[in-house]
Amino acid sequence: MALLASSALTWPAQAAAVPSPPALAATPPMGFNNWNAFGCDVNETLIKETADVFVSSGLKDAGYQYVNIDDCWSLRERGPDGRLVPDPAKFPNGIKGVADYVHGKGLKLGIYGDAGTKTCAGYPGSLGHEEIDAQTWADWGVDYLKYDNCNNQSDGSQADYIRRYTAMRQALDKTGRPFVYSICEWGTSQPWTWAKGVGHLWRTTGDISDNWASLRSIIRQNAPLAAYAGPGHWNDPDMLEIGNGGMTDTEYRTHMSMWAMMAAPLIIGTDLRKATPQTLAILGNRDLIAIDQDRLGVQGAVVSDGNGLMVLDKPLANGDRAIALYNSTDSLATISVATADTGLRRAGAYRLTDVWTGRASQVRSTISAGVPAHGTVVYRVRPLRDPATVAPAVAVGAELGTVVPGPTGGGTPTSPARDGTPATTPDGSDPTGGGTLTTTVTNRGVGAIREVSVSAGVPDGWTATATTERRRARLATDATLETTWRIGVPADTPAGRYPIDVTAAYEWGPRHRPATTSSQVVAVVVTAPQDGRRHLSTIEPVTSVNATGPVEADQSNGGALENDGNLITIGGKVYPRGLGTTTGSELRYYLGGRCSGLVTDVGIDDEAAGGPVTFTVYADDTAAATSGPVAAGEAPKTLTADLTGAAWLRLVVESATAGVHADWAAPVLACGGVPDDSPILPESRTIFSFESGTEDFTIANPNDGGTVAQSPLFHTEGANGLKVSTPVAGNWFGRRLAAPLDLTGKTMLKFDLKAGEVGTVGEIAVQVGESSSWCQGGLWTWTNPGSSKTITERFEQISCPVGVTLDPSDIRAVWVFLNTGGEVLIDNIRAE
Ligand code: GLA
Repeated sequence: MALLASSALTWPAQAAAVPSPPALAATPPMGFNNWNAFGCDVNETLIKETADVFVSSGLKDAGYQYVNIDDCWSLRERGPDGRLVPDPAKFPNGIKGVADYVHGKGLKLGIYGDAGTKTCAGYPGSLGHEEIDAQTWADWGVDYLKYDNCNNQSDGSQADYIRRYTAMRQALDKTGRPFVYSICEWGTSQPWTWAKGVGHLWRTTGDISDNWASLRSIIRQNAPLAAYAGPGHWNDPDMLEIGNGGMTDTEYRTHMSMWAMMAAPLIIGTDLRKATPQTLAILGNRDLIAIDQDRLGVQGAVVSDGNGLMVLDKPLANGDRAIALYNSTDSLATISVATADTGLRRAGAYRLTDVWTGRASQVRSTISAGVPAHGTVVYRVRPLRDPATVAPAVAVGAELGTVVPGPTGGGTPTSPARDGTPATTPDGSDPTGGGTLTTTVTNRGVGAIREVSVSAGVPDGWTATATTERRRARLATDATLETTWRIGVPADTPAGRYPIDVTAAYEWGPRHRPATTSSQVVAVVVTAPQDGRRHLSTIEPVTSVNATGPVEADQSNGGALENDGNLITIGGKVYPRGLGTTTGSELRYYLGGRCSGLVTDVGIDDEAAGGPVTFTVYADDTAAATSGPVAAGEAPKTLTADLTGAAWLRLVVESATAGVHADWAAPVLACGGVPDDSPILPESRTIFSFESGTEDFTIANPNDGGTVAQSPLFHTEGANGLKVSTPVAGNWFGRRLAAPLDLTGKTMLKFDLKAGEVGTVGEIAVQVGESSSWCQGGLWTWTNPGSSKTITERFEQISCPVGVTLDPSDIRAVWVFLNTGGEVLIDNIRAE
């Protein structure tokens, strides 16, 4: 093939100039930290065995080096000499013993401290003890310090953050021992603007957790900070959750891909002794590690970012570039970037190597792929002289709206519109069953592909019928074959996500080599809500559009991030249930003609100004209830909408001004003809309401202090809540119950809280059984000053002493943990 443009024939291997590296953390640190998988449950055996696995699994050879201990390693009090004391039960040979062991394996040891009076879990902090603590760690042979931010006594100013974190930098320097210094203040003081030269890495966000919403939110926060990173000073989007079980392998590959693209520290956070081959393969992907550890040390820049699709471009020391196509949406998407929009040198063709499949392909001028929901494709890209020898890149895309199980399952709609075209709803789903699939096959390579055909592999019992052309004799560079399909879904198909494999088969090159490219699209089958009256915030909308950030369940919209709102508050009335939106929003729910009505309060949230806004409830295309103009500060209005027979419910908020915080407060949907007075699900049971007083609340550790008083200042039911004055290091507030409480059938504990100070942390504890064993739940940290929230702890998140199980039928006492030294308002401790 002589298809190359003549101007693009020479590409000297021009490696970019690399400045001389700093002594420490010249590339992002790689290692392990116990927190994500073990929390406070750290000990010598775990650290030593992890070091062993580093060596035996090949992770050490892959570059992982630091084995790091997180919070809870010391005793609760300093020793008589003022030094921190390793807990002898957890570390019988001290930290020195572990350091020697780890060093013996050719690895390095990390420790954890806190720039406050106590660590997040309440162990001694280093504020005011910087020098003695740094010297202690140096004496033990520690190589890495993660320095946290709880109980920080801060006035919140950036100057204070700089002062506290610089004090430890100076103390570490004074020891003469090299330490990698990891600043962990959750991005609060924008450390990227000041911490270069102070720390080698700084957290840019709050704590990661092992779920997709957390991962997506952290990527969104960290990606724009590329300009601040470089050798010896890295943005830290927190430690890896890969292998911990809360995400799919596709999501964990995105985690690894995006951390490598963002030149992030790669700190493993899973139990390596039990890691599956898949987990080790993700963590040990040498091509991605090479991208992360590239000595040029540049964090990938955002080339484009819109509609949940992001392209990153990272230059590499040998002149290649890593290009990532990241799909944060919930469906397959074709993501494309013109090579001219990246830092790639001009060339007639480029060679791509997919770092996950190893597959090589070539493109002329557009890098493009069908990327699965929550997935990321990463290519290592370089100019290519002879494209004839490399398979052309073919992008397979597909779009499929929600699908509704059909009454016939045959895929033929029973009631087509009069002109014979199938009746469809606005998103392409068919109210009588099935849906419409559109597939695209695009040749991005140099040279035509031939004998192109596309097929759709559907689940058993489903049908896929092409209604337009699905074969093409020849597809030139950048040409697309688009095909429309009718998808038939059997009537009894349960709601859920069903994969459909779309495969393009074709021939390429002068020797007609056969090849295929596939993408998987997910059919979202929706069914009508179950019978009963239910809080709408517990039902997943089919689609949701919002002006600022995501629509929030059971809180106001807050800002651009997920889970950053307050409890919904309208005209002073606080609602623990509802949907926080901004104007310009639309939420759609599938009802299938099975629901009778929606009752909801509406209004502009007290956290916002602006308006007026109009709330409208649509039953299909009919306005079933509307608020008329509502102004800021107005009391809530109640809307009652008749939904009889409607296939779809839509909630729409409009206004001349965008971004006004508009709430659907306590919306309740009734389906299946249930009586108006049937209980609202999920049913919640109040344990403490504080209506008649303090409920005789006591404190668990009387020596640590704290007081309680009934207060009308904050309440989410009734007229009163509880005002708690907390000691700095916190205490447990609650009491034993007069008789054992039976919470059988419930799955979680909740309470509503309004806190003044950042850094407030909380937990829930229950005492269970004859022995009154103490079981307590995961830590949450307050990062939004003055805000209010519902704190939720699922029973499975609450851990009991060894040998004790949380028996929900035999609860003897209920406690909540609160700290910071300030006042905290709480109400309505309940089970649900
Ligand atoms: C904070 C940090 C976490 C972890 C815990 C330990 O939340 O951000 O990474 O170190 O403290 O208590």
